[in-house]
This record gives sequence, C-alpha cells and structure tokens, in this order.
Amino acid sequence: MSENISEKKAHVIVLSNEKGGTGKSTISMHLAIRLMQEGFSVATFDLDGRQGSLSKYIENRKKFCTQQNLHLPIPDHTRVYLEENPYLITQARENLSSQILQKKNNYDAIIIDTPGTKNYLFEESHKYADTVITPISDSLIDLNVIADIDYQTGRVLKPGPYSNFIWDIKKYLATQNKPYLNWIVCGNKLSNYKSKNKTAIFSHLERLSKLYGFRLFPGLKDRVIYKELFLEGLTVLDLNNDRLKCKMTVSHIAAKREITALAEFISPE
Ligand SMILES: Nc1ncnc2c1ncn2[C@@H]1O[C@H](COP(=O)(O)OP(=O)(O)OP(=O)(O)O)[C@@H](O)[C@H]1O
Ligand SMILES: [Mg+2]
Repeated sequence: MSENISEKKAHVIVLSNEKGGTGKSTISMHLAIRLMQEGFSVATFDLDGRQGSLSKYIENRKKFCTQQNLHLPIPDHTRVYLEENPYLITQARENLSSQILQKKNNYDAIIIDTPGTKNYLFEESHKYADTVITPISDSLIDLNVIADIDYQTGRVLKPGPYSNFIWDIKKYLATQNKPYLNWIVCGNKLSNYKSKNKTAIFSHLERLSKLYGFRLFPGLKDRVIYKELFLEGLTVLDLNNDRLKCKMTVSHIAAKREITALAEFISPE
C-alpha cells in the first residue's frame, strides 16, 4: 500500500456495509495499527459515536499503555456523534467534512469506521473515500445488501441497497475528478471449514465483483483472538511485543498474516 498513501495528502479508507456486526470496527482498528507499524501516520474517525466501539477500543489501548508503561502506536482519533436535530444536520455535515479535510493534510492515512446503517455521516464520509472496504461474512444474509440473487437459478436480479449507494458514490466521485474508487469486499469471520454454503457465497461474490466493480479479498477467518483483545486495546499485530509475554499460537500468526495481507491488498496494482 506504500505508494498509494505516501503522497502528501492522506489516503482515505472507509469501512462500511449497510449491515451490522460484520467487523468494520475490528478491521478499522487492526488496519490503523498495521499502517502505523509500517511507519505511516494515521488518523481514525468513529462515525458510530453512540455505540463507540472503535473509540472504546482506542481508549482501552491508551489506558493499557499507561498502566503497563508501554509504547504502542495509537492513532489520532475523533469520535463523532450523530446530530439528531434536523435543523443542525447541514452544519454537522460541514463540520465532519472540515475535520476530514484538516486531517487529510496532516496524515498519511485516514481510517473511517461507519455505522451499520446509512445516515448523513455515513454518506458524507464516502465522498472522501479513496478506498472502501466492505467486510462480509460467509452467510447469505450478508449478501443481500450487495445483490438480490435468485438462489435457485443463480441469476442476479438487481443490485442491493448498499451496491446502489456505492454506485452513486462512484458517480459523485467521478464529478470530482476521481474516476476510480478502490472498492474492496473482504470476507470476515469466515468459518474454518470448507462448506457448500461458503463456496456458493464466494462464487456469487466473484461474479458480483465483475458486475459492480469491486475487488474481492478472500478474507479473515473467525478467530477467537479478534474478540479477546478489545479490553486491553490490543490487536493481533501487537502480540509479539516482548513486554506482553504472550505466547504466539499458530492461529495468532495466521491472524497477523491475514491483516498484513489485507493492508497490502489495498494497493490496486
Ligand atoms: N475475524 C473475526 N473473528 C472472530 N470475531 C470477530 C472477527 N471480526 C469481528 N469479530 C467480532 O464480531 C463482533 C462484531 O465486530 P465489530 O464490532 O467489529 O463489527 P461492526 O461491523 O463494527 O459492528 P457494528 O455494525 O455493530 O458497528 C465483535 O464481537 C468482534 O469481536
Ligand atoms: Mg462497529
């Protein structure tokens, strides 16, 4: 990913899906730490301020580092709350836009974690996206937001609401002299076993990638380690730090490889 984000202005990566619980916040955190370990400066935004998963993850990391007198990379983080008053939404959109633009001038990468439902913060953030990463599990229920498929015949009936949204964003970006949006659909929480269901989903995704213009990252497996590190604010990338005295298992090493591979996959070449 080095070439893309080493330019002066930050490369903006938006994690999104109009579907809850697919791994947006977990992947946001891991990517932020991965890029910082590579020497890039990173700012993060949590646009799901009410839930605040990414914000809490980063707060936990700060606390843990202070308690343990540890020096781990921590991104410059902004938590954004949804404005409920309809009269103030225009102003709130502008505020978000100027916060992103300001960080764009000062960091190599910006990672934006979004809520699982569309709102004005969700929409506004995509206007700055260079890369959109869409985590998706190996469950047919997740595929629904990408496309409506007749599973008897395999025919794609119509794009799902989220693909329609990304299409609109692509059109908008084209009017802003950004003809290319690097859209990546990333399998997450994938079962360890080869199943008919998983094979079917990935073959649908392969076809959809050509139809709707995304690149398919094979994915991150369902690993308990992704769930265990939240309270300390750690990621699988921190575990080989000598001070943590953590015994790396095969699964930890594999998880680290998955995240590293995703960070590398961001560069389209
Ligand atoms: N690869 C993985 N393996 C195992 N558990 C995972 C993995 N990725 C995420 N999880 C777990 O899945 C749950 C949902 O993840 P996360 O909060 O990152 O999703 P989200 O898309 O941000 O959710 P929301 O839409 O609610 O914001 C969490 O408990 C998280 O620890
Ligand atoms: Mg989240």
